[in-house]
Amino acid sequence: MQFGHFDDLNREYVITRPDTPLPWINYLGCQAYFGLISNTAGGYSFYKDARLRRITRYRYNNVPYDFGGRYLYLRDNGSGEFWSPSWQPTRSAIEDYSCRHGMGYSIIGSTYQGIEAHTRYFVPLNENLEIWQLTLTNKRDTPVELSTFSIQEFCLWDAQDDSTNFQRNFSTGQVEVEDGVIYHKTEYRERRDHFAYFGCSRQLDGFDTQREAFLGAYNGWDTPAVVKAGKSTDSMAHGWSPVGSHHVKLTLQPGETQQIVFVLGYQEMPVDQKFDPPGSQIINKAAAKATLAKYLDPTQADAAFDRLAAYWKELLGLCQVETPDPHTNRMVNIWNAYQCMATFNMSRSASFYESGIGRGLGFRDSNQDLLGFVHMVPSRARERILDLAATQLSSGGAYHQYQPLTKRGNNDVGSGFNDDPHWLIIGVSAYIKETGDWSILDEKVQYDNQAGTETPLYEHLQRSFAYTLARLGPHGLPLIGRADWNDCLNLNCFSDTPGQSFQTTTNKNGQVAESVFIAGLFVHSGQELANLAEARGLQAEAARYRADVAKMTATVMAHGWDGDWFLRAYDDFGHKIGSKECAEGQIYIESQGYCVLAGIGLEDGVAQKALDSVRTHLATKHGIVLQQPCYSKYYLELGEISSYPPGYKENAGIFCHNNPWVIIAETRLGSGDQAHDYYTRINPSAREALGDLHRCEPYVYAQMIAGKDAPTHGEAKNSWLTGTAAWNYFAIVQWILGIRTELGGLTLAPVIPTTWPGFRATRVFRGVTYHIDVKREGKGSQASLEVDGIAIKGNTITPPSDGRKEVSVKVTLR
Ligand code: BGC
Ligand code: NOJ
Repeated sequence: MQFGHFDDLNREYVITRPDTPLPWINYLGCQAYFGLISNTAGGYSFYKDARLRRITRYRYNNVPYDFGGRYLYLRDNGSGEFWSPSWQPTRSAIEDYSCRHGMGYSIIGSTYQGIEAHTRYFVPLNENLEIWQLTLTNKRDTPVELSTFSIQEFCLWDAQDDSTNFQRNFSTGQVEVEDGVIYHKTEYRERRDHFAYFGCSRQLDGFDTQREAFLGAYNGWDTPAVVKAGKSTDSMAHGWSPVGSHHVKLTLQPGETQQIVFVLGYQEMPVDQKFDPPGSQIINKAAAKATLAKYLDPTQADAAFDRLAAYWKELLGLCQVETPDPHTNRMVNIWNAYQCMATFNMSRSASFYESGIGRGLGFRDSNQDLLGFVHMVPSRARERILDLAATQLSSGGAYHQYQPLTKRGNNDVGSGFNDDPHWLIIGVSAYIKETGDWSILDEKVQYDNQAGTETPLYEHLQRSFAYTLARLGPHGLPLIGRADWNDCLNLNCFSDTPGQSFQTTTNKNGQVAESVFIAGLFVHSGQELANLAEARGLQAEAARYRADVAKMTATVMAHGWDGDWFLRAYDDFGHKIGSKECAEGQIYIESQGYCVLAGIGLEDGVAQKALDSVRTHLATKHGIVLQQPCYSKYYLELGEISSYPPGYKENAGIFCHNNPWVIIAETRLGSGDQAHDYYTRINPSAREALGDLHRCEPYVYAQMIAGKDAPTHGEAKNSWLTGTAAWNYFAIVQWILGIRTELGGLTLAPVIPTTWPGFRATRVFRGVTYHIDVKREGKGSQASLEVDGIAIKGNTITPPSDGRKEVSVKVTLR
């Protein structure tokens, strides 16, 4: 069953009934001011950091699930009836409901008793504010007297504190109201240099800033006292719970349309200019007023919206494809790229499943996110790389997470995840391949954000690689540390106490448990690093890396191969994990996908065997599960993986992030049919018709789809913030379609399904637009290239030396 449909032309997903199985959300803002918005206008906003600078309040795990957001109420002052055009919070019997989630905006609305109302929510480029543009039309044949009420709840900035420290927070709230604008200034009197403001384009008929005055002590959001009564109370919040609500009355003639604009913004002030007059406690509103004056004007708001649309058109235009498969097209051309922007901005911090207070930006996550983002805004990728590298430790290890606001490593989580450093090599390499900007390697970057420790970024990469060489275990495989990519394989943890963090509890000495996955990652990153070294003229160093890679490959074959597939790890007793010898968890996906992706066993049938085993033991129609058989009980020596009931998350769930590793691995063996088939199984657009099983949004990847051991096999969870976004984008564009960035130029090496006659693509690479036309003449993946009519040797196109900005490439596959 479907709950809406794609509108590819407008780059929107149109939800046509409000009661989606879960909130189907979108992100507003793509630079510093961010919002999450559900299809019924739920959600919240923050500046840069969902934990430390939360602008509006949200309660997770609510009942119903999604409650609280950017709500508007309409009231027919003739009848006294009121409703919300976004369905929530009143859940009235609205008609023609639709929510159009688009690129950085959502338009939500409906018709109720002849009154049509749609609100366009978006964050203009380069501004720290959001616009709610409400359009009202009277479809009745009589005039109507309406009241409009806006409402959102201010968060007292630190979202963690806001949801726990009530003894203090119920006494700190402060607001000002001036010229109809509501200013939220809690803690502005002391150490904060920022406030929020909420303005409206109309003369107000009233306002409220105290939640209880707006709702009434015992009313829910569906029956606010003020809306029921049709009259605001002009309440001023002193402590308790500051909110922002405007009341606007208007008369609409039959057929008449009117617009009201609301602007919610965030303003920082230089410390010496915080107050006006100086020395007073009154907010200096000059800057906020100027911004408000601009965006409360509907023409200016429209212009800002047009700029946002143009921005996204340009970003998405950097890579457009036309294949025989509509699901591939709309994911590559629109939604997957869009999701990569969200994962780049949020890492795993703020979604409807990540509360924004749990995690900062992950070191491994953010580095991997670059794979799907770097072609869009390379300058921001560059900045991110340097920020991440600055949280690296001098040992080459890394803080596992950092806070986006402070850009400092998070001490609560600390370090010791032994895969982390390698992702920096992969992220940096991806950046240079895209941009050709070698200067990044010479940037001086600190360790652990300590002044005086700076070295060139290149040395950070050297230390990343050396980190593993200095931490090899009894078989010569990399020691796993707290965990590798699989955060739930906690081999040095042995936790028997409820509440202990699996990721940070370490009670083994860490000198035994080894990871075959990190070995594969090492083989991959070692080749990337060798290529960088070589290009910098460091031939001897490159040769050393290649030797290390060869040695690790041999070690994997000697101690990491189980006969038909790669082992996963050795535990603290030196026992195999992911082996036929195990009672459960005999085969894991990560080492199959990653070792083959890294090139191990491509020539001698080993890779093929591993992938055949994946097909036999792990593949399901909903995607490839993480391991089999699932763990039916808790294993002290394995940790969190065995804490999950069968089929969920890392315990044999379809953990979508690692499916693309197998997809890439299949392309390395030339199996385009199998690769694209796996791709389609987890492609959300291809799963749209399964709406009531899949349950999550059909336009973005979810972290997990329940595996075959779960009672809810096929059900997705944790949508939006997942490494699946970057990796699947990378897999489809760079490996299946084969439009691959290399240090030396753009390689075209498609490994597409045998049934495809070909495809077309446009890719802007290092400032040159490549018009690519792929035609199949045989069943294989042997590609010959003609560049602007001239056949070239090999399949890497070097950037034109004569300044051409448009290049046509014909690719023939045989
Ligand atoms: C999840 C993992 C996640 C880890 C760290 C675990 O509960 O299952 O997917 O990486 O927490 O946040
Ligand atoms: C989610 C985490 O964000 C990521 O870092 C990890 O690799 C996966 N879970 C697998 O455990």
